[in-house]
Amino acid sequence: MVAIVRVKESIGTPVEKSVEPAMGNDIIPHDRYISKDFMKLEWERMWSKVWLIGCREEEIPEVGDYITTEIGEESVLIVRGEDNVPRALYNVCNHRGNRVKFDSCGNARTLQCAYHFWEYDLTGKLVFVPDEEDFQQGCPPEKLSMKPIRTETWGGFVWFNLNPDCEPLSEFLGVIPEHLDPYRLGNMAMTMDVTVEWDCNWKASVDAFNEVYHVQGIHPELCYTIDDVDVQIDLYERHNRYLVPFKTHSPRMGELEEVPEGLAQELHAIGMNPDDFRGRVPEIRRAVQVYKRANEAKLGYDYTRLNDDQLSDDYHYYIFPNITMNVHAESMLFFRQRPHETDPDKMYFDVRMFQMVADGKQRPPLPDHEQCKHGERSLGLVLDQDSVNLPHVQKGMHSESFQGLWIRDQERRIRHMHKTLMDYINGHYANDA
Ligand SMILES: [Fe+2]
Repeated sequence: MVAIVRVKESIGTPVEKSVEPAMGNDIIPHDRYISKDFMKLEWERMWSKVWLIGCREEEIPEVGDYITTEIGEESVLIVRGEDNVPRALYNVCNHRGNRVKFDSCGNARTLQCAYHFWEYDLTGKLVFVPDEEDFQQGCPPEKLSMKPIRTETWGGFVWFNLNPDCEPLSEFLGVIPEHLDPYRLGNMAMTMDVTVEWDCNWKASVDAFNEVYHVQGIHPELCYTIDDVDVQIDLYERHNRYLVPFKTHSPRMGELEEVPEGLAQELHAIGMNPDDFRGRVPEIRRAVQVYKRANEAKLGYDYTRLNDDQLSDDYHYYIFPNITMNVHAESMLFFRQRPHETDPDKMYFDVRMFQMVADGKQRPPLPDHEQCKHGERSLGLVLDQDSVNLPHVQKGMHSESFQGLWIRDQERRIRHMHKTLMDYINGHYANDA
């Protein structure tokens, strides 16, 4: 068995180990996953205070294009203005409280409420009220315009923050842009866009993707295409990552003479011959890196900003509180975990796939957004395996006998998420601006 060798290069995403914060070994209380009181605290002190992803810039390419996105009980409307700048607004008409837009996306010259035709411009300013003279108190735009929400862009995403006094997005993201800019995420195009309602707390989903301890139990097939043991974990101020070697297999499987079927398919897909690696299976990961580097023009990609490990591995980033990114040289599997409006036992899982668009090539058309409940649609084998498991985790969280999460070292991204969460709950970030 050849141990995983990691790059020490200076190009690409930094690979240095982070300094580990002291986090202790306490049980993580289960009531954080099931309590309505804790859910309320999360909203007041965390969800309404953090930067969140609203949409992709490519979803609103033209002036007047808008999308709506829900977080908790709020609906946020993101619209591209006459000045080409995307703006997030509370999606509420200040006449009688109606949603200004009910649909998930569209294009509008002005934002007109369907109820009584109150009309706002693309910055949210109230510009027309039918029969305005009949309001004895008047209709002052400074009082009645759609309330603006702090908005910034990074990585091809439009971000918003419900806290008007929040820190700039770059401060919130910390090391993330330096780490992920080499991937040129803005050049990736969305190819799948599905929202599934899951019967678990949003944190149970975040947890499931922040550790590989469950791979051997839930995803036995992955043991033949990834190394779930030699995984580098880095914890930053609020966010974290792990670097998972792909194009190899789990050391739990012992030594393999034959190239496993899953790996063979991955080699075929890029024009390599699996038969060349019979008896040399541990050499595949490095060979893939060398092959891709030498054949980038043929493969249609530009790898110059990435280190060799990035050509084979999954650089897996968690951006607090709810973004999971499996980033690869040519693609990204992206999850956004959103809480249910009122029920801590439910959540919305937004799964989006992205594909790199080669320089000079046209973006493919946006996929239709699909919304469904658990079990109504397959998300592919691996995500189906996770989604079958999670409702059972949530049920166990309610058991009288269960005290909380008993976390091993390799699962410490979960502990780190809870540290950040409790920092928000305890007011550590309250005076950011
Ligand atoms: Fe999983």
